Amino acid sequence: MHIIGPDSSKMALVMVGLPARGKSYTARRIERYLSWLGYRTRVFNVGQYRRARVGAQMPHDFFDSTNEKGEQARREVAVQALADTLEWLTSDGDVALYDATNSTPERREMVKLQCEASGVQVLFVEIACDDPDIIEDNIRNTKLSSPDYVNMDPDEAVRDFRNRIAHYERIYQPLHEDEGAFIRVTGAGRNCTVSNVDGYLAARLVFFLMNLHLTDRPILLTRHGESMYNVNHLIGGDPDLSPSGQRYAHVLADFLDARFPDAEAVVIWTSSLRRAVQTANPLGRRSLAWRALDEINAGICDGMTYEQIKQEMPTEYEARHNDKFRYRYPRGESYEDVIQRLEPVIIELERTRKPVLVIAHQAVLRALYAYFHSIPPQQCTRLPVPLHRVLELRPHAYGCQEVRVSLEK
Ligand code: F6P
Repeated sequence: MHIIGPDSSKMALVMVGLPARGKSYTARRIERYLSWLGYRTRVFNVGQYRRARVGAQMPHDFFDSTNEKGEQARREVAVQALADTLEWLTSDGDVALYDATNSTPERREMVKLQCEASGVQVLFVEIACDDPDIIEDNIRNTKLSSPDYVNMDPDEAVRDFRNRIAHYERIYQPLHEDEGAFIRVTGAGRNCTVSNVDGYLAARLVFFLMNLHLTDRPILLTRHGESMYNVNHLIGGDPDLSPSGQRYAHVLADFLDARFPDAEAVVIWTSSLRRAVQTANPLGRRSLAWRALDEINAGICDGMTYEQIKQEMPTEYEARHNDKFRYRYPRGESYEDVIQRLEPVIIELERTRKPVLVIAHQAVLRALYAYFHSIPPQQCTRLPVPLHRVLELRPHAYGCQEVRVSLEK
């Protein structure tokens, strides 16, 4: 897939900020989001280059800017990581995240000049945070399990890391508007400052970053109950639920009552199609019907069986078989199209802090599932999403846990 939108130049998102502010976390979230949208996106983490070059367990004074040896070694790995970033961007990549503290205007100027010399657009993404609880959580939840502190007493590791932060605090200067285009995210996404930002992708990123939060909450995905089309192996359409599908809707209601007794505790979204809305009816709770959640549009094949398509339209059947992700049903959609129209759903899922139950369809849920599990979108088209199961996803800082509940009766 290629860059969608008018500004098709390659882009480096240059992270800026003190250690333990959530830069790597944000970089990975951006990577997941843009990869899912079809941009070839990759994170270049300078910390990993440092570990490969000088070893993992360097004491805090290695990070002291007055330590000449440390300073030189850190500069060398930063330069190496930047060279690799630019090499990748000028060949295969669309968007690279250059993940380092980039704490001083001098360092940022060097990065910017090199990017520009390679024809790469730069957008700085500064993560600022002075909430001691968030910083403490970041240190304890991510830094202590990093190779830098493996086998070290946790309290000693925290002390060392705090000293490391102090070294950076002495030299750190927040971005200034003269330095170029930037987005500054403060207080774990509560505030975003945008300066000199221009272009489609950058604006999209601002919107995405404004909606990120750290609240831990589950997202429950289920297909509608079995429909009359499922019974007859027909695709698409707007059929009613079968008797078994209606039973599922009631079992789902019992499940939800047990799991979320408070009716307001969970947000419920369905597609606009009858089978999804009928599945939500017995829940007796408020729900929102989204067109964006409707099943993939099978165009001229709507209402046919796969066998029929194979017999009557063998070329179409073969083309879909060969490239199920890009194949667009005549007068219908491809999975690639489905992902584009699901983007507002993803933004809303990111923004919502309550648990969300999504009652939708096979292709649509495959696409959403791929997002949360960072599965390359091209690989989503055959993911198993059976009827009458709830997939409970719990996204967290560096991945997504999953529980599958079978409600088959
Ligand atoms: O068969 C149920 C269904 O939801 C169809 O309506 C839809 O066309 C199909 O699944 C999507 O799955 P696939 O992409 O594997 O054909």
